[in-house]
Amino acid sequence: MALHDPPYNLVAFERRSDREFVDWCERWVRHSCELMADDGALYVWLGADQERGFAPLPEFIVMMRGIEGLRSRSLITMRNQRGYGTPKNWMAVRQELLYYVKGSPSFAVQYTEIPKILRGYYKTVGGVRTENLERSRSATLRASNVWVDVQQVFYRMQENVPGCYAQKPLAAIERVLAASSRPNESVLDLFAHSGTTLIAAERLGRRCLTGDIDPIFCEIAIRRLERLRETGKTGWQRADPFDSDRS
Ligand SMILES: C[S@@+](CC[C@H](N)C(=O)[O-])C[C@H]1O[C@@H](n2cnc3c(N)ncnc32)[C@H](O)[C@@H]1O
Repeated sequence: MALHDPPYNLVAFERRSDREFVDWCERWVRHSCELMADDGALYVWLGADQERGFAPLPEFIVMMRGIEGLRSRSLITMRNQRGYGTPKNWMAVRQELLYYVKGSPSFAVQYTEIPKILRGYYKTVGGVRTENLERSRSATLRASNVWVDVQQVFYRMQENVPGCYAQKPLAAIERVLAASSRPNESVLDLFAHSGTTLIAAERLGRRCLTGDIDPIFCEIAIRRLERLRETGKTGWQRADPFDSDRS
C-alpha cells in the first residue's frame, strides 16, 4: 500500500500553479501505482484552500479520475482540535484523506474508543427482536469517514517532534495501516517529514519505504526510529531531536 502526505502546493518551499502542482502529483501517484501490488490501497492527505476555491483538492480529485486502474473508495475528514479562521467564517478544523484502491485489497474494519450510546434500533433476527447494541460486534463505534477522535499533535504529547511543522498523528496513520495492510506487508510514503508512517509501520510490524527531499527530515525520521527501538518512545515531546544525548 501507499500513504502520501505531500506538501500542499508548497513544493520545496516555492509556490507552484495548481496545474503544475497537480501534474507533479500525477507523476508520483503513477509511480506509486506501478510499485504497488495488484491489490493495494493508496491514501493521500490533501488540503483545500478556502480562500482559493478549495484548491488543490478538486483539481487533484479530477486528475485521479484519469488514472486507469485506481478506484475511489472514501473521502475521510479528520477533525483538528485547534482551528484557524476569523469570526466572519466557520472555524477551519478539517484535514482531508483520500482513499483509492488498485484491484481489491483487503480492508480490516477499525474501531474507535467512542462508546456506542444510541439505543433503540430494533430488528428481528431469527424470530427474536434484538436491539442494536445486542447485534453489535463492538461496544465502541466503528471508524467512519469522519474522524473526531484523533488528537492533533501538540508539544505536550510524547510523539511530538519539535521542528516538524506538519506532523500527522500516529493514531491516524496506524488506523490506516491497520485497515489496509497486513503484517509484514510494505507501505510506501514519499514524504516522510517526521517519519510518522515509519514509526506506525514499525509498531504494527509492517515494512516501510520512505524518504524526503530534505535531508534534515530524513535524519529526523531515522533518529525517531532509532529512539523508538531504544526507548519505546514515539517522539521527543519538547526535547530537541538533535541534542547529543537525544534526551
Ligand atoms: C506534509 S509533510 C509530511 C508529514 C508527515 N506525514 C508526518 O507525519 O511527519 C511533507 C513533506 O514532504 C517533503 N517534500 C516536499 N517536496 C518533496 C519532494 N519533491 N519529494 C520528497 N519530499 C518532499 C517536505 O520536506 C515535507 O517534509
